[in-house]
Amino acid sequence: MDSGKRVTFPLLMAVGTAVLGSLQFGYNTGVINAPQKIIEKFINETWSERYQEPITKGSLTAIWSISVAIFSVGGIVGSFSVGLFVNRFGRRNSMLMANSLAFISAILMGFSKMASSWEMLIAGRFVVGLYSGLTTGFVPMYVGEVSPTALRGAMGTLHQLGIVLGILIAQVFGLESILGNDDLWPLLLGFIVVPAVLQCILLPLCPKSPRFLLINNNEENKAKHVLKKLRGTSDVSSDMQEMKEESRQMMREKKVTIPELFRSHLYRQPLLVAVILQLSQQLSGINAIFYYSTRIFEKAGVEQPVYATIGAGVVNTAFTVVSLFVVERAGRRSLHLLGLIGMAGSAVLMTIALALLEQLKWMSYLSIVAIFSFVAFFEIGPGPIPWFIVAELFSQGPRPAAMAVAGFSNWTANFIVGMTFQYVEELCGPYVFVIFTVLLLCFFVFTYFKVPETKGRTFDEISAGFRQTSALGAEKHSPEELNSLGADSQL
Ligand code: GLC
Repeated sequence: MDSGKRVTFPLLMAVGTAVLGSLQFGYNTGVINAPQKIIEKFINETWSERYQEPITKGSLTAIWSISVAIFSVGGIVGSFSVGLFVNRFGRRNSMLMANSLAFISAILMGFSKMASSWEMLIAGRFVVGLYSGLTTGFVPMYVGEVSPTALRGAMGTLHQLGIVLGILIAQVFGLESILGNDDLWPLLLGFIVVPAVLQCILLPLCPKSPRFLLINNNEENKAKHVLKKLRGTSDVSSDMQEMKEESRQMMREKKVTIPELFRSHLYRQPLLVAVILQLSQQLSGINAIFYYSTRIFEKAGVEQPVYATIGAGVVNTAFTVVSLFVVERAGRRSLHLLGLIGMAGSAVLMTIALALLEQLKWMSYLSIVAIFSFVAFFEIGPGPIPWFIVAELFSQGPRPAAMAVAGFSNWTANFIVGMTFQYVEELCGPYVFVIFTVLLLCFFVFTYFKVPETKGRTFDEISAGFRQTSALGAEKHSPEELNSLGADSQL
């Protein structure tokens, strides 16, 4: 087999271990949906004990909403801090260090009931949000940097597979008969120690990113050694050459900070693409489903809403696997376009189902079909692609800053949907999905005109493509400026 496409054990082990972090992120996204009533009961009891009076409905809703949403606030802060770690400690060691946050959070959440403190629950959700925010930067970066060009999309999709498996596990564990009950919910939340321990054992056995070793640390021999293991061949000259080329570019580029990323004309186009792709993922409305599906199904007249929610989790996982196998063949751009248009169609179906529910009872089935296909199309493109494409759009110099900005946009949009969906739904009634349809169509148009295909191209070729576009319209730049940014070769 072509060594560029060989899935070696060290590669699989490195990626598999890294995506345990993605699993944590997914788990904490999905875990809070099912046991809402049980945890609310705990909050109510604690409040009554402490203040000798029952909690008001308003305070209960506020405490609950904060517990849910503070996770994304942690995510916003965490994702923005990615750059502080990855260049100093390296990609692998940053992932390792982040686990301390998972342990702290597990203690806070796991013992909140024993300590009669919902404050600990809120603090724990914030800390695991921090962890997840960091993870959404660390994992795609590490995975992109250890994978061969021809497998970068498939390996990158494993990050999303980790997330969706995490959501599914949380949905199943959250069933009342398993851990989602009065006695065991602290275990449900504290379960995050398991993947954290596993990752702490396995990460030290995984290689460091060869790009980090060579480009950031200038450790050529170590980089070569790691590459040989990852590629399963002793001839890694083409990889080394490509990395050195990138390294040379980087000497000129230097390290790029977030303000520089915004100021430079050269990064404007890829940055715009990266940010809009993140927004297209979150503003598609996917987390309206993953945070509130049970309630949505209930409103749509579905009899066993919890099982419909788990059904959505299964479809979600199945289609991520489909994407895994087609992403290197069909390409990122076409899959993203297909996903967006399919989601828009499903959102229209959902609107019809909700609007006609009064007249036609069987519309509740149509709503299940609509939600399942919404989720399926999401995983074809808009789910996995935005996460890994950012690492592809930027070379080593600006990559950490770009990941931070992209992650920040993603988490902020996640927070907005999570916080506002219930209110907007009350305002719009059955027509709430029309908003997502319009947004999805706008993202489709943007992707069609602005997003380049990155499949099968090296990091260096991709950024050279952007430099070229930028150089063509860069009369406003002084040659010195372009030179310092590595664009001279394109002029
Ligand atoms: C993506 C999103 C995440 C969402 C998940 C659903 O990973 O980033 O917010 O919950 O997909 O599968």
